[in-house]
Amino acid sequence: MRTSWPQLMEEISACEKCRLCETRTNVVPGEGDPHAKLMFIGEGPGRDEDLQGRPFVGRSGELLTRMIRAIGLEREQVYICNVVKCRPPQNRNPQPDEAAACLNYLRAQVGLVRPKVVALLGKVACRYALQQEISVMREHGNWYERKGIWFMPTYHPSALLREPSLKRASWDDFQKIRDKLREIEAAGEEHGE
Ligand code: URA
Repeated sequence: MRTSWPQLMEEISACEKCRLCETRTNVVPGEGDPHAKLMFIGEGPGRDEDLQGRPFVGRSGELLTRMIRAIGLEREQVYICNVVKCRPPQNRNPQPDEAAACLNYLRAQVGLVRPKVVALLGKVACRYALQQEISVMREHGNWYERKGIWFMPTYHPSALLREPSLKRASWDDFQKIRDKLREIEAAGEEHGE
């Protein structure tokens, strides 16, 4: 069933479908341009995100924001969300049943935004968005087309903070994302869109 943004946000904010609701401070539904061409999907809220109710506002969020700016966009021009909308305790990976309980929200968000390009930040985002086990080390920068949307696995910003030598490869991915958006825009103009 197709939902609307207000309906979806209300549903996510009141969600008690899994145990993560018991330990959260705030739900972190996602934010940004509801019709963005570019969407980022992370894993799940961390401590700062849980406290503020906003995605990617801690250290890895600061890095993500800088990387978005580096490809000529502002945070407000993209849509940012996570696989799970509530913080897993101690920042552990979301468990399969937790991710499964949240997956329809992610699907609805993608359906409402209708982005052209989705950057999948890390293995967990790849696993649930593509329903496939992906080695980010091997597959980062490659495109996966699904129903007209281009998905790219890339490094999670927290991996870049842990291992700065990955930043070079991550920057290459972000340039590919910028180029793909330009290509899509140019093709759209040609067709008078
Ligand atoms: N890590 C994530 O995967 N998501 C956030 O929102 C913050 C950190």
